[in-house]
Amino acid sequence: MKSILSILLLLYIVVPVTAQKASDAKMNAFINGLMQKMTIDEKIGQLNLLTGGEATTGSVVSSGVESKIKNGQVGGIFSMSSPARIRKAQEIAVRQTRLKIPVIFGMDVIHGYKTMFPIPLGLSCTWNMNLIERSARIAATEASADGLNWTFSPMVDIARDPRWGRISEGNGEDPYLGSQIAKAMVKGYQGDDLSKNNTIMACVKHFALYGAGEAGRDYNTTDMSRVRMYNEYLPPYKAAVDAGVGTVMTSFNEIDGIPATANKWLFTDLLRKQWGFKGMVVTDYTAVNEMIDHGMGDLQQVSALALRAGVDMDMVGEGFLTTLKKSLHEGKVTQKEIDEACRRVLEKKYKLGLFDDPYRYCNEERAVKETYNEANRKEARAISAESFVLLKNANNTLPIKKAGTIALIGPLADNRSNMPGTWSVSADFTKPISVLEGLKQVAGSNAKIVYAKGSNLTEDSLLEQRSTMFGKTLGRDNRSDEALLKEALDIAAQADVIVAALGEAAEMTGESASRTDIGIPDVQHTLLKALLKTGKPVVLVLFAGRPMTLVWEQQNVPAILNVWFPGSEAGTSIADVLFGDVNPSGKLSATFPQNVGQIPLYYNHKNTGRPLADGQWFQKFRSNYLDVSNDPLYPFGFGLSYTTFSYSDITLSKNAFKPGEKITASVTVTNTGNITGKEVVQLYIRDLVGSITRPVKELKGFQKIELKAGESKTVSFAITVEDLKFYNSDLKFVAEPGDFKLFIGTNSRDVKEAGFKLL
Ligand code: BGC
Repeated sequence: MKSILSILLLLYIVVPVTAQKASDAKMNAFINGLMQKMTIDEKIGQLNLLTGGEATTGSVVSSGVESKIKNGQVGGIFSMSSPARIRKAQEIAVRQTRLKIPVIFGMDVIHGYKTMFPIPLGLSCTWNMNLIERSARIAATEASADGLNWTFSPMVDIARDPRWGRISEGNGEDPYLGSQIAKAMVKGYQGDDLSKNNTIMACVKHFALYGAGEAGRDYNTTDMSRVRMYNEYLPPYKAAVDAGVGTVMTSFNEIDGIPATANKWLFTDLLRKQWGFKGMVVTDYTAVNEMIDHGMGDLQQVSALALRAGVDMDMVGEGFLTTLKKSLHEGKVTQKEIDEACRRVLEKKYKLGLFDDPYRYCNEERAVKETYNEANRKEARAISAESFVLLKNANNTLPIKKAGTIALIGPLADNRSNMPGTWSVSADFTKPISVLEGLKQVAGSNAKIVYAKGSNLTEDSLLEQRSTMFGKTLGRDNRSDEALLKEALDIAAQADVIVAALGEAAEMTGESASRTDIGIPDVQHTLLKALLKTGKPVVLVLFAGRPMTLVWEQQNVPAILNVWFPGSEAGTSIADVLFGDVNPSGKLSATFPQNVGQIPLYYNHKNTGRPLADGQWFQKFRSNYLDVSNDPLYPFGFGLSYTTFSYSDITLSKNAFKPGEKITASVTVTNTGNITGKEVVQLYIRDLVGSITRPVKELKGFQKIELKAGESKTVSFAITVEDLKFYNSDLKFVAEPGDFKLFIGTNSRDVKEAGFKLL
């Protein structure tokens, strides 16, 4: 019996490996044959990625795209959609060029394609990997039906600075959670076979450390020790690579004084040699050209630097296209470097199945049937509701009843275009469901919903203009602030409960949208204060693309539901949670600071040599501030429910273990409230003594469970030596014997504690 099992196991491992080898050999033979026929110009042409002229994110827009395709000067096109347009462009490539090499078609499919899901920061707060994978799967199905085969996602940049607008596009501050999400997204997009017509190739970005720009200013300088990089910032990129991500995008920032796009250590030594990445590297938008401003040389020089660093495809800037041949003749790059880049591009086209059928992703019928359909929107509604984080709920203000009169007030209440949030380039902004529409739909005839705008986004019309771009307007109301407020108070006077839909506009976060003041803007804050003065119960439905500073709100508003930017089904999912049809279960993936001065503030920090004593908030000659405690407003992992959970003490299967063994840590979680709810049970570990200083806590596991009222479940985590490993000062991944603390709880602050030893 045992031997049959081992034969089966051997077959299970050996057969796929052999099959993989055979298909790689077939691909290599095909590409070798093709490359033998290619001229140097045709090879360099493959390294050129242009925009199709729809949505763009930089000031440069590609021109003469059709004639460049015809001349064999285009390897890929992005931001062009619809099967008809893509088919037309592909036809030029496969009919009118000498070697008939098809083009790859990409797009920023970041959190949905036509059916929009919550912004990635919101999605990450579900802590539900199945849902996150589903969102990517649906996005891939829709995008591939519309002609696309490549997405510039997932964005996995760890971010600990909420001033940075692009914190909205990532998964927050934690490398472990970020790594799980990176894997789920890659799996969701790519499935198990890239050549299927409903999967698309993923691109992990922005490699690397883009989230660590100084002062939260976009595109800014980054400088970081290798130990921090390896332990805290690189894991999510590596997780994506381990999950088989097809492509990697460079980042705009510098690393060790060299822009990432020219950083040979990063792309050749680390990514390809150490991590074994076999795919293609693409630059970010004009990142090659931007190295001129970084002070790295002229276009010829920076293009050569990028190629030599291990970059394969040049996005939009055409530095490769216009200078590499000259550099080859002048000995500044080698034929081998050009060949390798070209081969990697062709390999991707091969794996996508484009050489077999260049139109496999162009299917008008599928585009109509599989895009933005009811089934997808139904899933989006559930996913959005699960991303909301209940920050406060004094006296069970929420859920509200589907009865009486509800006043819905605020500049984000009657708005569709902002609901999908930033990076929703393919969404139709007329379609998302507004909060007003959602409340009406879900409440039906049981409750009367009355509405007033109450204020503009901000008093400063110029700031409002900058914060409402790409057609995502809030429709500035030219009445005076006083008139808007008066109207809102009149409406509020009719109501039993007030729902205030306030916060950021969609484009207050995202690319090039950093803020130094991350509170609720001026006039909205005045509105909120006035609404509270009515003495009626007020629920703040907070739209946010980042952790915001909300100390005043926490002190004064009875209930705060953070809904991020929920996507297509914004209004319905918000109504589901407000009325209690869905019990909120989101947990923060990034710390909310008390004020901007505390930034960067993150839970997995070091202890320092002068930590504060427990429970203290100021001690002279300790690491702290005079004017604010070190505490966050809401810690990482935090999020309330309409029910309550209690945690038993931790039981350990043993107190010490050796490498090769494991310890099981268990807690019993009980739903102590009156309704069913979901809870994310979180496991953290602290390495008490190390050869380098270790964080005060690190997330090492989590499980999302559902409990009926009164129900208990025992949740167990198996801990092995792998969970205790970190990169030491020689950058070796090791576990060091000694004492560890283990914490299990409902967030990173409120935990039970136990201890164990690694022998
Ligand atoms: C962004 C990338 C994006 C690219 C293409 C750049 O500005 O940094 O994240 O994928 O544009 O749109």
